[in-house]
Amino acid sequence: MGVFARVVGIIALVFVVFQFIPYGKDKTNPKTDPKLEIKAPSKVVALLKKSCYDCHSNQTKWPWWSYVAPASWSISDDVKGGREALNFSTWQKYTKKEKEKLKKGIYRTVAGPMPLPQYVWLHKDAKLSKNDVKTIRDWASNGKGFIKTTVR
Ligand code: HEC
Repeated sequence: MGVFARVVGIIALVFVVFQFIPYGKDKTNPKTDPKLEIKAPSKVVALLKKSCYDCHSNQTKWPWWSYVAPASWSISDDVKGGREALNFSTWQKYTKKEKEKLKKGIYRTVAGPMPLPQYVWLHKDAKLSKNDVKTIRDWASNGKGFIKTTVR
C-alpha cells in the first residue's frame, strides 16, 4: 500500500472513531410552555427567529452535519452556551433587570459578534442587513439608543 493510501486510510479511521465519542450527542429541543416565549413586535421576532433562534431558543433546527463529529461537538457547545446566555423560548422567566441587561447585550452584539460568523457562513440568510440591525436595536433600546456606535 502506498503512503498516500495509508494516510487516507488513517484519516478515515480516525473520522469513524470520532463518531463513537459520546460527546455532543444531546440534540434536543426541550419542551417549553409557549407562554414563556419572548413577546416583541412581529418584525423583531421574525429577525430573531431567522438569525438567533438556532442557538438562543429551544427550537433549534439541527442540520444533518450537527450529527457528524467533529462538527457536532462545536455545534452542541454553541447551542448549550447560547441557551445558557440567552433563551428566547423562556424569556418571560427572566426578571425585569435580567431582561434589560440582555437587551443591552443584544443591542451591543447584534452589530458585530452575533450571530456567530461560522453560523452565518453556513446560513447565509441569517446575515442581518443594516436595516435588520437597526430594527433590532430600536426594539432593544426602546427607541432610545444605548450607545453611540455606527451601525454596520
Ligand atoms: C451559532 C450559535 C449562535 C447564534 C446563531 C447566535 N448566538 Fe448569541 N451566543 C452564542 C453563544 C455560544 C453565546 C455564549 C458565549 C459567548 O458569549 O460568546 C452567545 C451569547 C450571546 C449573548 C450574551 C453575551 C453578551 O456578550 O452579552 C447575546 C446578547 C447574544 N448571544 C445575542 C445574539 C443575538 C441577538 C443573535 C441573533 C442576531 C445571536 N446571539 C445569534 C451563540 C449564538
